[in-house]
Amino acid sequence: MRIVCIGGGPAGLYFGILMKMLDPAHRISVVERNRPYDTFGFGVVFSDATMDNMRKWDPVTADTIEQAFNHWDDIEVLIKGRRMRTSGHGFVGIGRKKLLNILQARAEQLGVELVFETEVDSDLDFPDADLIVAADGVNSRIRTKYADTFRPDILMRPNRYIWLGTDRRFDAFTFDFRKTEHGWFQAHIYKFEDGAATFIVETTEEAFLAHGLDKIDQDDSIVFCEKLFSEILEGHSLVANARHLRGSAWLSFPRLICGKWTVFNGNSHVVLMGDAAHTAHFAIGSGTKLALEDAIELTNQFKQHGSSRETIPAVLAAYEELRRVDVARIQNAARNAMEWFEVAGARYADTLEPEQFMYSLLTRSQRISHENLRLRDKAWLEGYERWFSQRSGLPASNDSVTPPMFTPFRIRGLSLSNRIIVSPMAVYSAEEGVPNDFHLVHLGARALGGAGLIFTEMTCVSAEARITPGCCGLWNDEQGTAFKRIVDFVHGNTSAKIGAQLGHAGRKGSTRVPWEGIDEALPAHNWPLVSASAVPYLADGQTPEPMTRAEMDLVRDAFVAAAKRAAKAGFDILELHCAHGYLLSSFLSPLTNRRADEYGGGIENRARYPLEIFRAIRAVWPEDRPMSVRLSCHDWAEGGNTPDDALEFARLFKQAGADLIDCSSGQVWADDHPVYGRLYQTPFADKIRNEVGIATIAVGAISEADHANSIIAAGRADLCAIARPHLADSAWTLHEAARIGMKSMAWPKQYISAKQQYEANLERAAAAAGGVK
Ligand SMILES: Cc1cc2nc3c(=O)[nH]c(=O)nc-3n(C[C@H](O)[C@H](O)[C@H](O)COP(=O)(O)OP(=O)(O)OC[C@H]3O[C@@H](n4cnc5c(N)ncnc54)[C@H](O)[C@@H]3O)c2cc1C
Ligand SMILES: Cc1cc2nc3c(=O)[nH]c(=O)nc-3n(C[C@H](O)[C@H](O)[C@H](O)COP(=O)(O)O)c2cc1C
Repeated sequence: MRIVCIGGGPAGLYFGILMKMLDPAHRISVVERNRPYDTFGFGVVFSDATMDNMRKWDPVTADTIEQAFNHWDDIEVLIKGRRMRTSGHGFVGIGRKKLLNILQARAEQLGVELVFETEVDSDLDFPDADLIVAADGVNSRIRTKYADTFRPDILMRPNRYIWLGTDRRFDAFTFDFRKTEHGWFQAHIYKFEDGAATFIVETTEEAFLAHGLDKIDQDDSIVFCEKLFSEILEGHSLVANARHLRGSAWLSFPRLICGKWTVFNGNSHVVLMGDAAHTAHFAIGSGTKLALEDAIELTNQFKQHGSSRETIPAVLAAYEELRRVDVARIQNAARNAMEWFEVAGARYADTLEPEQFMYSLLTRSQRISHENLRLRDKAWLEGYERWFSQRSGLPASNDSVTPPMFTPFRIRGLSLSNRIIVSPMAVYSAEEGVPNDFHLVHLGARALGGAGLIFTEMTCVSAEARITPGCCGLWNDEQGTAFKRIVDFVHGNTSAKIGAQLGHAGRKGSTRVPWEGIDEALPAHNWPLVSASAVPYLADGQTPEPMTRAEMDLVRDAFVAAAKRAAKAGFDILELHCAHGYLLSSFLSPLTNRRADEYGGGIENRARYPLEIFRAIRAVWPEDRPMSVRLSCHDWAEGGNTPDDALEFARLFKQAGADLIDCSSGQVWADDHPVYGRLYQTPFADKIRNEVGIATIAVGAISEADHANSIIAAGRADLCAIARPHLADSAWTLHEAARIGMKSMAWPKQYISAKQQYEANLERAAAAAGGVK
C-alpha cells in the first residue's frame, strides 16, 4: 500500500512506524511542515498502561522512550501560603522534542520516508496514495476541507492558558494557585527532563482580559507570569517554545468531537487521527496517549483484515467504531478535570480551606476515589480524615479515624450522628393518606439501619395533591397522629432523626400506583389537576388547569397546615419538594410554566410561588428546626432549566431561609435525556454548595461508602441521600460501615450480637479473596 501521513506529530510518525513493521513492502511517507527539531511545547505525561500497550506493538520504541522517561510520584499543591504534598501518584514525563526525535529515528531506521519543511495544501497532492492519514493536529486543514463529512463539533473552553517551560528543578507534579486583584491563576508544572519542566499557566477569560494579557505579546506575558509565580520559580526564568504563535500566545482549549473520521476523496481513503479527530484537555494529560493509541488501533485493524487497498473501507469502519468509545471515555474524564480548573478560582479557591481544596483537586475527575487515594498515600489520607473529623467537631484522636461520611453534622438545632440520609421514597401503601403499619415497619427498619437521617416519602398537603391513591398525606389530624407514632418510634428506639418531605403532585397527580403503570392516569375516580400551565406530563395524560390566584392561596394554606401538623408530630426537619415535575417544580421550569402573569417568565417570576410557599411554611415551622428544598437541578431537556438556573433558585431559597438544598434532577419533562454516569448529580450539589454558600445534599447513583466518603471529603456536598440501596438493604449504612472497617459504628443494642459476627465474616471473605478489606 502507498500511505501518506500528513503531519509528523506522535500520531503520524507512530502510525508510519507500526505499518512499516506490519509489512515492510508498504511505501509510507510522513510529511511535516516543520524542521526535524522544531516543535512546540515542552513535556508530555504518560501512564503505565499506555507504555504497556506500546510495548506490545514495538518494543524497540517503547524501550527507547522508557529510557528517556522521568518518573515521579508526588503531587504538591501551593495555595494561600500553604505548600502540601502527597505521594504514590506515579507519572512519567518525556520532552515532546525527545519523543518526536525517538519516533523520527525509528521511522527512518524502518524505511519510512520523512519529508520535512513541506506544507501540505491538500490531500489531492498525493493521487497515488491508497491511504492518507490526516494527522495534522488540532487545526487540521484536511478536517476543515471535508467539514461537511467530518462534522467537527468544536467547543472553545472559557479558560486561557500559555504553555511555558522553566529550568527550575521540580521533583513533584506541582500546582501553584495565585490570587490577583482580578482573579485566580494556576500553574500546572511537571518535570520532563533533568532541569526542564513544563509550566502551563491558566486563568479565566475575565482575569485574562482584566490584566490586559490580550494586548501584550509573548515576552511581556512571560514577564507577567514570572512575577506572579516568582515564589515557586525561585529566581529561575520562564521560556516560551512557540515562537511561531503570533499575538498574545494565550490559547483557549478547543474541545473537539467529529461526527465522522473517514472520507474517500476520489483517489484515496482519508482518515483522521490524533488531535485532528479529537482533543483531550491537558488537565488529564491524555492527548498524546490518544494519538498513539489511534495509531495502534488502525494498525491492529489492518493486521486483522489484511493490509491492502481492498480492505481499507472495512478497516477504517472498525477503527472508527472502536476508537470512538475509548475516546469518549477519556474525553468524559478530561471534561470533569478541565471543568474543575475552569471553576477552581471562583468556586473553591476562596471557599475551601487548603486541605479540602487539595482533596477536591486530587479527586477532580471523579475517577480517583477516597479508597483510591488511600492506596496511593495512606498516611496522607489518614491525616486528611483526621483533619476533616476535627473540623466536624470530633475530638482529636491519633488512634482511630472517622471516615468523612460518619462524621457528625449540625444545622440549626438538628444534630445528625452521620452524613447519610435515607432519601425520600414513596411506597404508595397508604389509604386515604394515612400511614399505617407498613410505613412504621418500613421507616422504622431504616431508622434502625444506621443512617443519620431518614425522610418520609413525598407527603401530600391535600387529597388532590397526591400522585396516587396510595400516597401519604398530612391534611388531617388522623394522618398527623399516625405519623407521630412513627416519629416517636424513631426517636424512642434509634439514633436517627426523621424528616418529612411535603409536596403537591400538580400535573403528575391522579395516577396509578407504579406497579400498575408508572405515571399512567387512573382508569377511574380521577381528580382534577392543577399546575403552573396547562401542560400534561404524558402526551395522552390528564391535562391540568393553570392555577388561579385563589387556588394558589388554598394550596399555600394547605402547605402551612401540613407543616404545622409535621411540627406537632415531632419531625426534626422539613423538606419542600420543588423537584421532579410536581406542582412547585412546574412553576420553576420554563418547559411547564408558560404563564404570562408575575408567576411566569424569568427566574424570579418562576420562583415566586414556590418561594411564597416556602416562606409561609418557614414562618410556622419551629425556628430551631432546619428546612431543605429539593430541586431538579437539570431538566435534561432542550429549553429547560440548567444547573445555572438551579444555582439562582438555590440563591433565592437561601435568602428565604432555606438551610439545605437537596440536589436531584430530571423527571420534569417526559422526553428528557439525562446524561447518566458516575455520581452524575453530584456536580449540582458541588456547584450550589460552593458557589451559593449553602449546605447541600447529593443524591443519585451513590451506592458505596467510597462514593459518599469522596463526596463529603471533597466538600461537594454536606450530606448524601441514598435511595434505592436503602430499599434493597434497610441497614445499608451499618453494612457499609462494617465493609470499610469502621468498628466503632454503633448498632442498635438489640442487634449487637450480630455485629461482631458480621464484621468477622467480611474480614474472612476479604482474606479469602486475597485482598485488603
Ligand atoms: C498545553 C498543552 C499541554 C499538553 N500536555 C500534554 C500532556 O501532558 N500529555 C499528553 O499526552 N498530551 C498533552 N498535550 C496534547 C498533545 O500535545 C497532543 O494531543 C498530541 O501532540 C497530538 O498528537 P498529534 O500527532 O495528533 O498532533 P500534533 O502533535 O499536533 O502533530 C501535528 C503535526 O502536523 C503538522 N502539520 C499540521 N498541518 C500541517 C500541514 N498542512 N502540512 C504539514 N504538516 C502539518 C504540525 O506541524 C505538527 O507537527 C498537550 C497539549 C497542550 C496544548
Ligand atoms: C421507589 C422510589 C420512590 C421515590 N419517591 C420519591 C419521593 O417521594 N420524593 C422524592 O423527592 N424522591 C423520590 N424518589 C427519588 C429518590 O429520592 C432519589 O432521588 C433517586 O432514587 C436517586 O437516588 P438513588 O440512585 O440512590 O436511588 C423515589 C425513588 C424511588 C426509587
